[in-house]
Amino acid sequence: MSFFDSKGNKIDLSTEIARGAEGAVFNIQGNNEIVAKVYLKDIPTDKTKKLFLMPGMVTKELLAISSWPIEVLFDSTSGRLRGILMHRMKGREIHDLYGPASRKQLFPTADWRFLILAARNLAAAIDTIHSYGHVIGDLNQKGVLITNNGLVKLIDCDSFQIQYDNKNFLCDVGVPDFTPPELQDNPFQGIVRTQNHDNFGLAVLCFQLLFLGRHPFVGRYHAHGEYSGPNRPLNPIEIGHPIRSKSAGYSGANQATHLRS
Ligand SMILES: Nc1ncnc2c1ncn2[C@@H]1O[C@H](COP(=O)(O)OP(=O)(O)O)[C@@H](O)[C@H]1O
Ligand SMILES: [Mg+2]
Repeated sequence: MSFFDSKGNKIDLSTEIARGAEGAVFNIQGNNEIVAKVYLKDIPTDKTKKLFLMPGMVTKELLAISSWPIEVLFDSTSGRLRGILMHRMKGREIHDLYGPASRKQLFPTADWRFLILAARNLAAAIDTIHSYGHVIGDLNQKGVLITNNGLVKLIDCDSFQIQYDNKNFLCDVGVPDFTPPELQDNPFQGIVRTQNHDNFGLAVLCFQLLFLGRHPFVGRYHAHGEYSGPNRPLNPIEIGHPIRSKSAGYSGANQATHLRS
């Protein structure tokens, strides 16, 4: 598969590395430092605009902590936008570090200090993104990579909410576990995300790093009868409900909700 970048250079893709819901990521021939993400479906107009803008907004600081897009890729025949180029990111997904079983295997020397370092670096990386007026939006356990020396690399940057010329190019995805109460159950389309929304996901990830991968809102139901959310019965307890009702098993609110850690 071949594409052209914005300067007309031909980019030849080689093997596929991985794929997500939106795109497949490939090695490219002749440059081991760069990878290509090719979208699986047609790219909506707003996202196309965002992808055209992002390479021009790149800074050294952003590249140090993220796989910020550095080029766009066009189809050689139709001339349509098909993907982006970005730096290859090394590291393992953050859940490999906070999950005790995978941590033992994949981060065998990680101690308490390392976990705190990772949490600190995650907060700093998110702060860097925020300092430009951008929001991560879809902060989740697969979009944060941790290197062997505890550095944080954010991937899937094309889904970030980007601020350009006082206009926000939105992020229309999210994962319930890292979504604050006020956004639970609402479609993400059309919603302007705030930095404070990211802070909720950051707090969850920090908690998971420090508490063996446990989510702060999981808990066991300790009252009689079946557990039910306000709108529907929930069994087993689905994470959206305790977040929505702000009933962390670890908080004082568990008296009212009968959820215990
Ligand atoms: N810059 C990168 N360097 C190396 N691997 C990457 C990079 N970006 C993405 N990947 C791999 O590709 C997968 C899918 O990429 P992602 O951007 O999350 O796709 P999607 O938007 O479809 O979810 C990631 O989980 C990761 O394994
Ligand atoms: Mg994505």
